[in-house]
Amino acid sequence: MSIIKAAFDHAQKLIHGKALLIDGKRASDEVLARVTEKTRALAAQGLKPGLAVVLVGEDPASQVYVKSKGKAAQACGFHSIQHDLAAAASEAELLALVEKLNADPAIHGILVQLPLPNRLDPSRVIEAISPGKDVDGLHPFNAGLIASGDTKRALVPCTPAGSMVLLDAAAAALNVNLSGAEAVVVGRSNLVGKPIAQLLLGRNATVTIAHSHTRDLAATVARADVVVAAVGRPGMIRGAWIKLGAIVIDVGINRVAGESQDAAGRPKTKLVGDVAFAEAIDRAGAITPVPGGVGPMTIAMLMENTLRAALMKAGLEPSF
Ligand code: GUN
Repeated sequence: MSIIKAAFDHAQKLIHGKALLIDGKRASDEVLARVTEKTRALAAQGLKPGLAVVLVGEDPASQVYVKSKGKAAQACGFHSIQHDLAAAASEAELLALVEKLNADPAIHGILVQLPLPNRLDPSRVIEAISPGKDVDGLHPFNAGLIASGDTKRALVPCTPAGSMVLLDAAAAALNVNLSGAEAVVVGRSNLVGKPIAQLLLGRNATVTIAHSHTRDLAATVARADVVVAAVGRPGMIRGAWIKLGAIVIDVGINRVAGESQDAAGRPKTKLVGDVAFAEAIDRAGAITPVPGGVGPMTIAMLMENTLRAALMKAGLEPSF
């Protein structure tokens, strides 16, 4: 977020008494522009980042996600390929493809779209990906680097990485120092909750991970200067729980029935987060909307990870 825009948004917040809206679309456009520019510069050195996306089966939602990942990779100037395996493909077939991609010098990032058909073990597949090409950041080697605070060498999972970009922008706009701040992460998944908690520790925040067994969730959230909601339960975090001025990062993307109806009289669906947004905007200092918050950051961070993987493979500085 540019400083001027952030200052303007903050002034708007002071006037209206509402939370600053953290614009994930804008932030993701900035990341993609930076990746594209760096990729253009690398072409002069004969280096072209390559991303391979593997889709097993014909799940319509996965087909849409995979297509947008390929399109984003092309727009960044990457070498982009997609492998489609039949829903009946064996684990051996999938593992053989991963091995082939591990050995392919034109491919720097491998993403196997999840969920896989039930017969296939996602852990075995993820662990077969070479850690240096694991642009999803899901391999235990990358999880270990993140847990030891070595985020320079790690490939960080895309949603947590994107959440941190938005959190840093909000903290800068509100002049909040994350060092020493109370951060509460609601949700302990390996994909989001745990890595975000590690990244917050890396900013010297005091981190609590809350989950379904947490005794008094409302009181735990009420302590937080930073709330990260990643539970996948629509509107579960109530506005009244939010400390005045807190930064709220809502990772939830839940499809629910909307108020309006389509031509056939069926309720239209809409996307909502894990935070009761209409309540929370009156208390938060800054909040990510759903849609338009963390969501757009995920693909942008996948592109950044692919570029970082290519730079690291070439022995070049991965920060840019
Ligand atoms: N399915 C939904 N989100 C993701 C993601 O971030 N990575 C992979 N591999 N599959 C997904």
